[in-house]
Amino acid sequence: MPDPSLKVTDNRTGKSYDLKIQDGTIKAMDIRQMQTGPDDFGLMSHDPAFTNTTSCRSKITFIDGDVGILEYRGYPIAELAEHAKFTEVSYALLNGDLPTKAQHDAFAGELAKRATLPAGLLKILDGLPKGGHPMPALMALCAGLGTYNNDARHVRDKAVRREHMTRIIAQMPLLAAAVWRHRKGLPQVNARPELGYVGNFVWMIRAADQNDRTPVNPVIEKAMDILFTLHGDHEQNCSAAAMRAVGSSECDPYSCTGAAIAALSGPLHGGANEEVLRMLAEIGNVSKIPAFLDGVRNKKAKLMGFGHRVYKSYDPRAKIIQKVCHEVFGVTGKNSKIDIAVELERIALAEKYFIERNLYPNVDFYSGLIYESLGFDPSYFTVLFAVPRTSGWLSQYDEMLEDPEQKIARPRQIYLGHRGRKVAPVAER
Ligand code: ACO
Repeated sequence: MPDPSLKVTDNRTGKSYDLKIQDGTIKAMDIRQMQTGPDDFGLMSHDPAFTNTTSCRSKITFIDGDVGILEYRGYPIAELAEHAKFTEVSYALLNGDLPTKAQHDAFAGELAKRATLPAGLLKILDGLPKGGHPMPALMALCAGLGTYNNDARHVRDKAVRREHMTRIIAQMPLLAAAVWRHRKGLPQVNARPELGYVGNFVWMIRAADQNDRTPVNPVIEKAMDILFTLHGDHEQNCSAAAMRAVGSSECDPYSCTGAAIAALSGPLHGGANEEVLRMLAEIGNVSKIPAFLDGVRNKKAKLMGFGHRVYKSYDPRAKIIQKVCHEVFGVTGKNSKIDIAVELERIALAEKYFIERNLYPNVDFYSGLIYESLGFDPSYFTVLFAVPRTSGWLSQYDEMLEDPEQKIARPRQIYLGHRGRKVAPVAER
């Protein structure tokens, strides 16, 4: 059986080309040879937003959006959520396999050992307004952390890189908690790593002060652990692509993580659950749903938390989150917006507009309801996404740096602007 290939005829020249097909793709560089003459640069492909272009080979996360499959390192997301703790998932994302007990204990110990921040770092927060959005504040702390870790620039040294990746994963919950406490005017606290990765984070959010020994509610810790797992990675989404693109310049992992935080903060990506809550509050009650959906059909509004670039069926994470919702409500009391959300979903899934466009709830449709019930305000939700996604980002970064096929990311463009214009002195323009 010959190697699969694609025969293409360039009708401009009549020439035919055999393009190799590997892993269901052709190489964009293989079409460059298609030229109309010696002065022609060669054919390029145009793919704004990379909707049909692969940018890497990866072994981290598999998604089949048509049937709603999500696997990290080959492990289905539902099984991970049920049988593994987030730190096991983080280990698997970074290393390829779920850890043995000994490996997990060692990894948890490595994280615990690094769960402390440089003494002066949080002074950055003193210069930031309490009412500012928490994502830029998290970004500032993450980038600032890099200034305490100058050797992190040696990204080609695997041991150095791994050390800083572990530090960032260990310290991201501390940065996130510090941002929360700054916004709430609470005194900063040091981590209590003996509570575990997620348990300590929940404690750092809720503690009145360093001496607060109120135990972390196990239902809430478990719910947060599952939410962390669901947000661990999602292959080449906007923030992972940002992480890889910025990292391809061999930029240090702190700055790259800052760039990924920026990408995640947008309302079309990690900021969507914040928008879902605003939307549910605006709708206000179930009787207003039909009018709201009229607006969606007429393109006056989007049904936030619905639709996905990759999932054209039910996002598997949304199903798991629905279950977690009810467990959390058992502790916190029911969030009244859940009735609006459930009814919105029921009506939308039966409507032609959504069916024709394969629009289903995504992970963000229900996650905000849980976060709100836990006392988080909507603008902080994306921070809760960034903490676990840090493990995914760094796994993508590591894989990218180890991949001999990768180079500095540098897309091409189709230039449509002016050429060769005369520069008249300002007074004559
Ligand atoms: N509400 C109403 N209509 C929608 C929605 C929505 N949420 N999402 C897509 N559509 C419509 C579009 O208007 C378009 O309609 P048209 O064919 O009549 O022009 C069609 O469905 C296709 O949509 P696109 O925007 O082309 O799909 P794309 O893959 O580019 O967008 C996205 C995906 C950005 C997630 C989009 O569905 C959206 O904006 N959803 C709301 C925001 C959201 O929930 N984001 C979270 C994503 S998950 C995450 O990042 C963790």
